[in-house]
Amino acid sequence: MNSKKGLALVDLDADGVDRAFRADVLEGLSEPQKAIPARWLYDDAGSQLFEDITQVEEYYPTRAETEILRDRCADFASAIGRGRAVVEFGSGSSVKTPLLLKCIEPAAYVPLDISGDFLRSAAADLSAKFPGLPVHPVEADFMRRVELPSEVADMPKLGFFPGSTIGNMVPRTAVDLLRTMRETLGEGSMLLIGMDLIKDRAVLEAAYDDAKGVTAEFNLNLARRINRELDGTIPVEKLRHEARWNDDFARIEMHLVALEDIAFEVAGRSFTMEAGETIHTENSHKFGKRSGNALLLAGGWTPVERWLDNRGLFSLILAEATIPRSAP
Ligand code: AVI
Repeated sequence: MNSKKGLALVDLDADGVDRAFRADVLEGLSEPQKAIPARWLYDDAGSQLFEDITQVEEYYPTRAETEILRDRCADFASAIGRGRAVVEFGSGSSVKTPLLLKCIEPAAYVPLDISGDFLRSAAADLSAKFPGLPVHPVEADFMRRVELPSEVADMPKLGFFPGSTIGNMVPRTAVDLLRTMRETLGEGSMLLIGMDLIKDRAVLEAAYDDAKGVTAEFNLNLARRINRELDGTIPVEKLRHEARWNDDFARIEMHLVALEDIAFEVAGRSFTMEAGETIHTENSHKFGKRSGNALLLAGGWTPVERWLDNRGLFSLILAEATIPRSAP
């Protein structure tokens, strides 16, 4: 049964359980290294907790990216030019979008999001802020090729993918997504993408383990969600949040660590964890100039400009869907 539950289109069984969530959790808890895809962190409570994370002192990415968008308006105007249809991937609440739109005088705005609720409120906000701008919201999963509205078919496109969400994917998935974006937008289009930078390990680990414990709550909420939605008995008080830097893969990993030996059930299946064993719940890859460029090139995008915030914490990269002229 397909049903609108809360935010997005989900596939529910007769008991109202999200089939994909149950399958991912049961499979992930059965692996030698327990792991659950990070997308399941974002139920209503998780989405609110993520919004709260963007406000905590240690979590710099949102502030740093907003600073770049504010400070580099003139640069965007000259590098991107006017009259493009701006296609935002996973527009969410679109808070950063007005900062970009007011710099580049776009011809249209196309927010793409899997959540119709977010889309409608984002589109209404944008229309109020930019009265003459045609806004064409599309409810879609941007991980797949999206058919854009016919009204923007002949316009040059600019893809906008802020927030370093690309870093939440392993490189193979990130490259697939970049290629899919290129197919959605077409040859000759541009992409403005946020990428968080590799930096001091202590700064990174603090950003993902803030003193107020908001990120810990965000991570632990996944275990609570499993208990709520999948008839789980995970003893959440016997789990602790951990953010650890994996230097080999240049990423922060979030884990739920068992404080002692535990046993629990999920959807009628039994699981155990030994003290110290973990459930891996999220990756957040960080980039250098070269690794960011290599990822974009592998996805079919040629980087043309790169802007950093004043403290050099975060980057916004402009890339083109063209074959580099120097390529043999
Ligand atoms: C959504 N994403 C870019 C965030 C990040 O920084 O990787 C998710 C997040 N996880 C913990 N804190 C923030």
